[in-house]
Amino acid sequence: MAKKILITGGAGFIGSHVVRLFVAKYPDYQIFNLDKLTYAGNLANLTDIEDAPNYTFVKGDITDAAFLDQLFQEQNFDGVIHLAAESHVDRSITDPMAFVMTNVVGTVNLLNAAKNSWQSDFSGKRFYHVSTDEVYGSLHNPEDFFVETTPYDPQSPYSASKAASDHFVRAYGNTYKLPVVLSNCSNNYGPNHFPEKLIPLMIHNIQTNKPLPVYGKGENVRDWLYVIDHARAIDTIYHNGKNGDTYNIGGFNEWKNIDLVNLLCSIMDRKLGRPEGTSAQLITYVTDRAGHDLRYAIDASKLMNELGWKPSLQFEEGLEKTVDWFLANQDWLENVTSGAYQKYYDSMYENR
Ligand code: NAD
Ligand code: TYD
Repeated sequence: MAKKILITGGAGFIGSHVVRLFVAKYPDYQIFNLDKLTYAGNLANLTDIEDAPNYTFVKGDITDAAFLDQLFQEQNFDGVIHLAAESHVDRSITDPMAFVMTNVVGTVNLLNAAKNSWQSDFSGKRFYHVSTDEVYGSLHNPEDFFVETTPYDPQSPYSASKAASDHFVRAYGNTYKLPVVLSNCSNNYGPNHFPEKLIPLMIHNIQTNKPLPVYGKGENVRDWLYVIDHARAIDTIYHNGKNGDTYNIGGFNEWKNIDLVNLLCSIMDRKLGRPEGTSAQLITYVTDRAGHDLRYAIDASKLMNELGWKPSLQFEEGLEKTVDWFLANQDWLENVTSGAYQKYYDSMYENR
């Protein structure tokens, strides 16, 4: 019988790439995409595979335990790849409870639904929790990297909620022997990225000649990975990772925010036929984010050495591809920035 895999958050940025990869690469699997379609979930991210015979979309909320229990009883999934989350640090500062509900309560609900449905028969089963490097806190010594054994030290409500969910996943592995595996990844970028995050926001604002809001002095450092390389890592870890283990994912690619914004400005000047230096004039330094983490940097050696994964793209190449995707997908950007996609899909599912 075909393997049934539940992917949560599959209408979001990273989830959509994971769903597409699994649907295309594993025609024998049945892929279920469970998503609440919050502001960040957009089924337009998946129009190319929506009619695939091995793909099913389920609209639902992981904070609803009864709904999850029923879904798991009906479908008897073999595996779960859990990406559904509230994911934006700035939103977590204004509304932390939404992060507690989805990221913590939602994850525990999913763990319970899997545990109840599998009833200690764990052969061939797997619960994969997708997490972030932000759980490790902020690096201050330039020599340091996050490794899998770095102590947790989350600093934002977002990272605190993800840290809590990671702890629950490990606790279910330890206590109930649930076959869990986890990964903590650095910042992603690429197609379908919601334009509240740094890279797509800057691309959109450069194109529309709006100010480019750089927090503080722009000295904060992030470690960037192309989203499809993250999806490939998730595939590798789902299939070959060791039960109970954690894998850090990253491309050894650190950038100071201001350097990255300047690079984007110069790529966009070239693509839009503007004289070099035009877009950089839009850079505007604004009040810093509260509690802004200084630096993230992932050491992904374990994943590379033990499971043979490596990133496929250099950053400059990935950034060019990303800019090209946004310039070629004006409708997507227009729908997302106006919120039109939500009205469209809400009415579609209300009528079912
Ligand atoms: P995203 O915000 O783009 O997408 C999240 C998806 O989850 C959306 O489709 C949304 O509708 C869905 N969702 C939210 N609440 C839900 C709920 N209660 N029930 C069901 N679905 C719900 O996020 P993303 O950037 O794609 O991140 C996906 C996962 O990867 C998250 O767990 C995040 O913590 C993790 N992660 C993200 C990054 C990054 O750079 N974006 C890096 C490392 C890890
Ligand atoms: P973001 O994309 O929100 O990811 P995260 O906070 O999870 O790392 O932000 C990336 C970096 O860019 C972070 O240091 C905050 C900074 N930033 C800005 O300077 N201006 C912005 O408008 C945004 C959204 C982020």
